Amino acid sequence: MTTKEIREKYIAFFKARGHKEIAPSPLVLENDPTTLFTSSGMQQMIPFLKGEKHPLGTRLVDSQPSLRLQDIEEVGDNRHTTFFEMLGNWSLGDYFKKDQLLWVWEFMTKEIGLDPKRLYVSCFVGNDEVGKDTESYDIWKKIGVDDGHIHFYDAKKNWWSRAGEPSKMPAGEIGGPDSEIFFEFENVSHYPAFGKFCHPNCDCGKFLEIGNSVFMQFMKNEDGTLSELPQKNVDFGGGLERIAAALNNDPDVFKIDIFKSIINKVEKEVGFNYGTDTKKTKSFRIVADHLRASCNLLAEGVLPSNKLQGYVLRRLIRRAMFHFHLLGAGISGSGVSHVAESLRREYTSIDKNWDFVEENLNVEATRFESALKRGLAKLTRAVSDGVKIDGKVAFDLYQNDGFPLELTMEILSQNGMNFSAEEKNLFESEFEKHKENSRSMSAGIFKGGLENKSDETITKLHTATHLLHAALREILGEHVGQKGSHITNERLRFDFSYPQKLTDDEIKKVENLINEKIKEDLPVTFSEMSLDEAIKTGALHFFAEKYGKKVKVYTMGSFSREICGGPHVTHTKDVGGVNIIKQEKIGAGIVRLYASLEGKS
Ligand code: ALA
Repeated sequence: MTTKEIREKYIAFFKARGHKEIAPSPLVLENDPTTLFTSSGMQQMIPFLKGEKHPLGTRLVDSQPSLRLQDIEEVGDNRHTTFFEMLGNWSLGDYFKKDQLLWVWEFMTKEIGLDPKRLYVSCFVGNDEVGKDTESYDIWKKIGVDDGHIHFYDAKKNWWSRAGEPSKMPAGEIGGPDSEIFFEFENVSHYPAFGKFCHPNCDCGKFLEIGNSVFMQFMKNEDGTLSELPQKNVDFGGGLERIAAALNNDPDVFKIDIFKSIINKVEKEVGFNYGTDTKKTKSFRIVADHLRASCNLLAEGVLPSNKLQGYVLRRLIRRAMFHFHLLGAGISGSGVSHVAESLRREYTSIDKNWDFVEENLNVEATRFESALKRGLAKLTRAVSDGVKIDGKVAFDLYQNDGFPLELTMEILSQNGMNFSAEEKNLFESEFEKHKENSRSMSAGIFKGGLENKSDETITKLHTATHLLHAALREILGEHVGQKGSHITNERLRFDFSYPQKLTDDEIKKVENLINEKIKEDLPVTFSEMSLDEAIKTGALHFFAEKYGKKVKVYTMGSFSREICGGPHVTHTKDVGGVNIIKQEKIGAGIVRLYASLEGKS
């Protein structure tokens, strides 16, 4: 069964059980400054899990492309990837544990045919506030799961919220106990890390978590206690790539069909096959994973930079290039984009936006090449001047020039010098500090965002984005197309295709037109229709493949008509007024504008 078939079967299975298919979110959520990336299917569901009515009802299903950065250092093992697809189904106060666990079991064993003897499940053991989940245990027993295949774990493993266990949840965050499902690989002798005796949550690789049913029932209060949400929800997430690996009966997720063409391409470029030199396996995986993640981000219009999402993208591309080099392929942009091109077959959005993806991949690759050359010159000079390259110098090279430690060590050894274990430790400890800082930066966004997030400002800026898009097209021409959009509490950012920066006069005209439309107090309304119908009405859309079958079309008088999930103000006057505050030319044929609400710049 192909990965595509698993995805289709999953959606069809839940549709047959009364679920409506929803459109997955983009990897960078337009209106959510609380997180850098969409890292699970539930992110777009938060208001509905908290009780708001979803327009499509109480049973929903999708497959959500996700990006998890906490796993970046793990990539290289058999099962971690930064980018992955999460199969998701939700009950918004509708069915609960019994139906959910039964359906997951039925899907895994009957629909796609995993051997029930190889499946294990886990339940929450309970804590001071929430009791042991004997209800799930009883359901699993009734389904026919053996006692030996049901394991209880504490909140570290069997509680899910975006922040982790209950003590880590900030006020306002939602979560609940969960029940995971694992696949046990057997008789896979080529996999050296297999433990003889372990348990489903062991990290040796024998067991693979393939799905998680979260009973999303609680919200964290200001005083640190939990209270029940107005409704009992189910939030299920299944790892599409991992389920495919289980069906393959091979714990290496990089052996599934969707990685085949990219791995083959790398093999051709480097002249030897994946798996033939186990010391190189990690690099193969990093190249495949990081390029897949990078191209999916580029296809959405994210560009490499020194900040936030752009910084992550830069790191992913550079790390992929470096590991490509370790495989013997040299550091060249064209080599990387040649390999990445194979992803077009698996991802429609990469295919449709290939020119943009390729061009910007090459731009970044060239930048990295020069950074490496600079670093190399520094390093060679230092070596010839007899300067000792200690852990700190190596770390500075890493941080300032993107020069990875492995490369420093390689050059030192070519020059007959050694990098002692002690220096390596010093580098590692600097590196850990740096990692800790970036983690708290991400956590800060998450926490700060949740605490300070003003839904009202974000809603206004979102409506302003549509007005800006329409105004740009009216003033500059119909060929202007959205390439990206991002909103924080302070401003909107809008990227669009245009060959050169706007003149002051053009900026003024665009700004005036937006403010005129605000003054006209146009009603903002939406109607739901199929994607085809929406496109026929002339609604603007941004990379059409991200949408589901049913979409919302938002209209602002006759001025703007755009496919979008909302939220928006109800009348344009509510936006108040908009100032364009800055413009940049950020890539080949892409201009970026920043705008804020009047009185807020
Ligand atoms: N939201 C849950 C997860 O990400 C399903 O694991």
